[in-house]
Amino acid sequence: MSVVLGIDIGGSGIKGAPVDTATGKLLEERHRIPTPEGAHPDAVKDVVAELARHFGIEGAIGVTFPGIVQHGRTLSAANVDKDWVGLDADALFTKATGQDVHLINDADAAGLAEARFGAGAGVDGVVLVLTFGTGIGSALIHNGVLVPNTELGHLWLRDKEAEGWASDRARERDDLNWKQWSKRVSTYLQHLELLFSPDLFIIGGGVSKKADKWQEHITLERSKLVPAQLLNDAGIVGAAMMAQEGGRGQDGQTRKTSAVKPAEKAASKAQKK
Ligand code: BGC
Repeated sequence: MSVVLGIDIGGSGIKGAPVDTATGKLLEERHRIPTPEGAHPDAVKDVVAELARHFGIEGAIGVTFPGIVQHGRTLSAANVDKDWVGLDADALFTKATGQDVHLINDADAAGLAEARFGAGAGVDGVVLVLTFGTGIGSALIHNGVLVPNTELGHLWLRDKEAEGWASDRARERDDLNWKQWSKRVSTYLQHLELLFSPDLFIIGGGVSKKADKWQEHITLERSKLVPAQLLNDAGIVGAAMMAQEGGRGQDGQTRKTSAVKPAEKAASKAQKK
């Protein structure tokens, strides 16, 4: 059994738990610490270090981030402090915890977990996982392999950015009932259907628990759609999976075709320190 700590950085809470990466199951109850006001990198770093101490599990740690993550750097910050933009957050967390930290976009982590252990398990072809919350996150997966940082929540549709118009936050802000919100989501999903022809859409984020309220109102041309199954655990599980695989999930480098070999990554990390 391989046990890896997964940590999920969210807008209101930072949650962690040890994960059995062979089964995707959490081995202990999640520990949650409220996200520090403003989610500044320094404050978030301290929380990540506290979670690592709390569980005391050796080895690599997987951490999600709600923005673009490329080669360990956080490159966007739609809903968090702008100081994240351009930061080598991987190095920041690695130094703070004394462990090898691998960072991954939050929706990419949820997508990896859903595709392997959740609603997409055993599904061949293109799976598009979308998380609806404060923003809209996306994970594009083909036969189990992730294409990272798709950021489809920022797609422009009829002069509007999708996440500002169809996220769960937009539903609350515009006081939409589920049917009204589903109409917006259908418009968005139909456009994604045209662009990606997914075999399956998996809808995650907070709304996945309330699928009975919206699922029947979603209309699609040809793709299937199901709610996510791992609910609040998907980010933690996906982060741990990616750390277990040496961080290669984050850059779309599969185990077979990795452009950065583990030894190179270790050497580059050693240089950073
Ligand atoms: C960010 C994505 C993130 C999503 C969900 C968006 O605003 O740009 O990177 O996955 O929110 O947190």
